[in-house]
Amino acid sequence: MQCCGMKRIASIFAAVLMLALAISSCAKQPSSPNSENTAAPTQSTALTAAPTECAQPTDTTETSEVPTDKSCVLVLYFSATGNTKLLAERIARLADADIAEISPAQPYTAEDLNYHDRSTRASAEQNDSSARPAIAEDISLDGYSVVFLGYPIWWGRPPRILNTFVESHDFSGITIIPFCTSGSSDIGSSDDALAALAGSGSWLDGRRFAMSISDDELLSWIGDSLE
Ligand SMILES: Cc1cc2nc3c(=O)[nH]c(=O)nc-3n(C[C@H](O)[C@H](O)[C@H](O)COP(=O)(O)O)c2cc1C
Repeated sequence: MQCCGMKRIASIFAAVLMLALAISSCAKQPSSPNSENTAAPTQSTALTAAPTECAQPTDTTETSEVPTDKSCVLVLYFSATGNTKLLAERIARLADADIAEISPAQPYTAEDLNYHDRSTRASAEQNDSSARPAIAEDISLDGYSVVFLGYPIWWGRPPRILNTFVESHDFSGITIIPFCTSGSSDIGSSDDALAALAGSGSWLDGRRFAMSISDDELLSWIGDSLE
C-alpha cells in the first residue's frame, strides 16, 4: 500500500509539473520595444530609434511585394506645400519604411514661397548658392542603408535646405534614391547636384513624379530601386 501510495503521489507530482511547464511555455512574452506591434514611431522619434545593425534589402524578383527590412529604409523629405509630403507618405507605406521630415527652423510662409516675386525668401535663397537655411531638428541616419530623399523643385533646383542637410550628414554605406515633385519641370541635374554636395553615399538616378502616379507605378519604381 505504501509503495502504491508513493507511486500515486509521484505521478500526481509529475502531472502537475508538466502542466506548469506547458502553461509557462504558452505564456505571452512581453513585446520588445522593436517588435512589430509597437506603435509606429512619430517623425521625431523614428530617427532616434534607428537600429545600429542593418541588413541589406532582400531580393525582390520572386515576389510582387517589396520585402525590405523596415528598420533599414528611411523616406526622408522636405515639403513646403504638402505635395512631396503626400508622395513621401505613399512611398513609405508601400516600402514599409520609416519616414522623417526635414523641417526648416523658420517655416516658409505663403509669402516666402511666392515665386512671382523674385525678392521673396524662397527665390532669394535659390538665387544665393551659399544659402543654407537652418533645419529645426537634426535627423540621424544611423542604422539606415537606404534613404529615399524627396523634395520639390524650386527654380529648377532642390530647395537650399537640402544642401544644408546633405552637407551635414555622412552617407557612407547608404544608398540614396532621390525623388521630387514639381509643377512640370523634370528632376534635371538636381539629384547629381545633391550627390556632389554630399560627397558620400551611393546615389541612384532620381525621378520626378506627378501627383497622379499610381501605387502600382510607385511600387514598381521602389522595387527596381531596391534591386
Ligand atoms: C519657390 C518655388 C519655385 C518653384 N519652381 C518650380 C520650377 O522651377 N519648376 C516647376 O515645375 N515647379 C516649380 N515650383 C512648383 C513646385 O515644385 C511644386 O508645386 C511642388 O510639387 C511643391 O512641392 P511641395 O508641396 O512638397 O512643397 C516652384 C514652387 C515654388 C514655391
